[in-house]
Amino acid sequence: MKNLTFLNGDQMPVIGLGTWKSQPGQVFNAVKYAVSAGYRHIDCAAIYGNEKEIGEAISELIRDGVVGREELWITSKLWNDSHRNDQVEDALKNTLVDLQLDYLDLYLIHWPVAIKNGIGFPKSGADFISLKEIPLEETWSAMLKMRDMGIIKHAGVSNFNSKKINHLISVTGAVPEVNQIELHPYLQQTELVDFCKEKNVHVTAYSPLGSADRPTANRDQRPILLENQVVVDIASHKGVSPAQILIAFAVQRGISVIPKSVTPSRIKQNFEAKDITLSPSEMEALYGMDEGMRYIDGTTWTIERSPNTLESLWEGEY
Ligand code: A2P
Repeated sequence: MKNLTFLNGDQMPVIGLGTWKSQPGQVFNAVKYAVSAGYRHIDCAAIYGNEKEIGEAISELIRDGVVGREELWITSKLWNDSHRNDQVEDALKNTLVDLQLDYLDLYLIHWPVAIKNGIGFPKSGADFISLKEIPLEETWSAMLKMRDMGIIKHAGVSNFNSKKINHLISVTGAVPEVNQIELHPYLQQTELVDFCKEKNVHVTAYSPLGSADRPTANRDQRPILLENQVVVDIASHKGVSPAQILIAFAVQRGISVIPKSVTPSRIKQNFEAKDITLSPSEMEALYGMDEGMRYIDGTTWTIERSPNTLESLWEGEY
């Protein structure tokens, strides 16, 4: 199994099981099946609403001797409603209780956006808190404190651009260890990936298969990545599935990847993508697909009277 290695020698398996959109009734079996099939990396988040079931699955797997805690890499994410320095520890502890763990391998700031405590998704501008009021470095410093306390082994961010990462580094001197971002052939984020590599920030790709089950799929008219002809042709030529090509593409870029599935056969085939090698011409064809097209476009955070704009979210320093 390929891993990404951290400065202290810890290793994160490149392929993890994604759990966004996995329903509580399905994620228990998905996690149990995935770990039995060889996965050692599970990507979670408080806002996904399913950490309790994931915790039950992990606890059973450990109890039954299928896997040891230290063999697993468990990531979770701080929700946007707990960005204040006195809220981070409580949010983390809730996640730890739900996951039935006493530490996380990796904890990420989920979005560079702050909302009022207790809000899941904002419905009006009044639900937001501006980043002037709770600067990202305040949240980042609280994350670092959690790392110093040992309840998280590694700290990172998600959905951050290079300016925001540079800002955190310049204010605190501490480099986020991971940036988890949307990444696939339609959205390759080459500059951001290069920046992260230069700064020693590992990149994890979310929505690597194009998240056909995303909440906005019925109305946003985006193309179906798994049906893209370039991807389909490479897959049929190699005798593998389009999903496996997309996973191999990320891995071959030195990026970890967290395909979500609750279907055993897909969970298994997604994991087996680690053994696929794409030729230089296949990589070139996939590199040629970049359109800068986001499936998760951030408009949730830019509703009327929100302090955020798409420009401030994806390009800005604050
Ligand atoms: P399901 O969970 O029902 O198996 P992403 O990781 O980009 O968010 O994509 C997740 C979506 O892709 C889900 O709808 C998931 O369906 C589907 N999916 C996961 N693995 C595969 C696969 N190997 N082939 C086709 N679809 C897949």
